[in-house]
Amino acid sequence: MKKLLALLLALVMVFALTGCIQTVAPATEPAEAEAEEEAEAEPAAEEEAEAEPEASGDGALVGVAMPTKDLQRWNQDGDYMKAMLEEAGYQVDLQYGANDIATQVSQLENMIANGCKVLVIASIDGSSLGTVLAQAKENNIPVIAYDRLIMNSDAVTYYATFDNWLVGTKQGEFIRDALDLDNADGPFNIEFITGDPGDNNINFFFDGAMSILQPYLDEGKLVCPSGQTEKAVVATAAWATDAAQSRFENILAANYSDGTPLHAVLASNDSTALGVENALAASYTNDIYPVITGQDCDIAIMKNLIEGKQAMSVFKDTRTLAAKVVEMVDAIMKGEEPPINDTETYDNGVGIVPSFLCEPVGCTVDNYKELLIDTGYYTEDQLK
Ligand code: BGC
Repeated sequence: MKKLLALLLALVMVFALTGCIQTVAPATEPAEAEAEEEAEAEPAAEEEAEAEPEASGDGALVGVAMPTKDLQRWNQDGDYMKAMLEEAGYQVDLQYGANDIATQVSQLENMIANGCKVLVIASIDGSSLGTVLAQAKENNIPVIAYDRLIMNSDAVTYYATFDNWLVGTKQGEFIRDALDLDNADGPFNIEFITGDPGDNNINFFFDGAMSILQPYLDEGKLVCPSGQTEKAVVATAAWATDAAQSRFENILAANYSDGTPLHAVLASNDSTALGVENALAASYTNDIYPVITGQDCDIAIMKNLIEGKQAMSVFKDTRTLAAKVVEMVDAIMKGEEPPINDTETYDNGVGIVPSFLCEPVGCTVDNYKELLIDTGYYTEDQLK
């Protein structure tokens, strides 16, 4: 356990040193990254695995497919998964798909061909893995959908994620309370932005938030000057900051350049919120600054949050999710029941996928130290 903590601390230090933020370019091209990862793990993790020959995993190979290195969180998720699985005695084939569906499919094909015993997959597009997962099923390889549900496939064995509906309702409630919608007269102006249409999570994030905000739109207390309120219209391909920024530059130019105040922006996550904040910095002059939501507590966003440019984010402790998935893998490998706490919510089009939902927590300037610094998620210096 001490070793695991030391290893996690080392990983945190790596983040501190690299200052990894969400707009970083992939360190290597996908093919290169693949070769590197095949060539072997980081030295620290490797030594750790060698030092624990008696661990329960017996060296079985686990494939971990992450969507992209471009966003901070997936680097953390991948690093934690790899370190924790190796600590438990497994070998890990960790791959990042460069947000390219074909790349992720071929990485999964390789994992199957290389004899992976379990696949853990954070999909790029939840609906594009049917064929490759059919191969996994033929080979009796259990599949854990990681964070994002994989749709329309009967090969998905389990799902581990955060309570995504709760993420959305927390964001909606934050805006409701910050604008005091139940008591203030309004009307207040609001704009919306969510993530990639191929990510099933947006149906929970956005619909969860709208379950809180829609009544206020209906009664006219909230008004959306751009008229862009539909999920398909406010979606952002690949959750890209640049795309979010240019959409908001257009919205601001068309609806707010005459001095109209913008009171709130519902942004489903931090990478899209960052685009909104960049657009506001470039071309919004009203003294009223909007209440902006987010999710992930990315480093770049935490800096903005501390400076008052974003009101809240939702903290999803990726250490907790990774640890839960390692428990799942271990239970599967031992023929035991994995931890499951939801058997109703996540229907992937073929059936309900038994899930474990971790708890998201709202993060503001008032509690970020307690959530992020005191728990060792970040150092204070990383947020300066
Ligand atoms: C994750 C979010 C993340 C987003 C963009 C979603 O599926 O749940 O945490 O911000 O993808 O990567």
